[in-house]
Amino acid sequence: MSQPTLEIRFTVNRKRVRVQVPARLTLADCLRHELRLTGTHLGCEHGVCGACTVIVNGEAVRSCLMLAVQAEGAEIVTVEGLSNDEALTPLQASFRKHGALQCGFCTPGMITTAHALLSEEPDCDADRVREVLSGNLCRCTGYIPIVEAVLDARAAYRKSRGD
Ligand code: FES
Ligand code: FES
Repeated sequence: MSQPTLEIRFTVNRKRVRVQVPARLTLADCLRHELRLTGTHLGCEHGVCGACTVIVNGEAVRSCLMLAVQAEGAEIVTVEGLSNDEALTPLQASFRKHGALQCGFCTPGMITTAHALLSEEPDCDADRVREVLSGNLCRCTGYIPIVEAVLDARAAYRKSRGD
């Protein structure tokens, strides 16, 4: 028996979208399969690894734990929406500078989580970065370069705040 579907509308990466989705489809699957935004990665699919993190109304959210229908009316930013194709954001450039990725599977979730943190707390210290990123698992880097990259990007966020 086919599942009932619902039409939902939300904004993703500054574009308004309208999709017809099964009621039980996760936001992660909606982004990846309906909207082809495959920069959002799926690892554990039960809220543990953080790979699927996107920004919903300014908050870092695990898109594998949220239903697409719960996004009705929301403003969503995925990793694709943080930069244009021509230039890396200061945070992305900092990840590159510090070698804060290897296979890159965890990186979209690290970047979206760190972006949400730095947007709110551009003066955060290393302990705070570690605390916030403790829910994002990386099997490759050992975390030290990731924390250094986030700390190094703070100046850009302070600047955009107008400090
Ligand atoms: S895939 Fe969502 S937290 Fe792991
Ligand atoms: S860079 Fe490979 S899992 Fe993080």
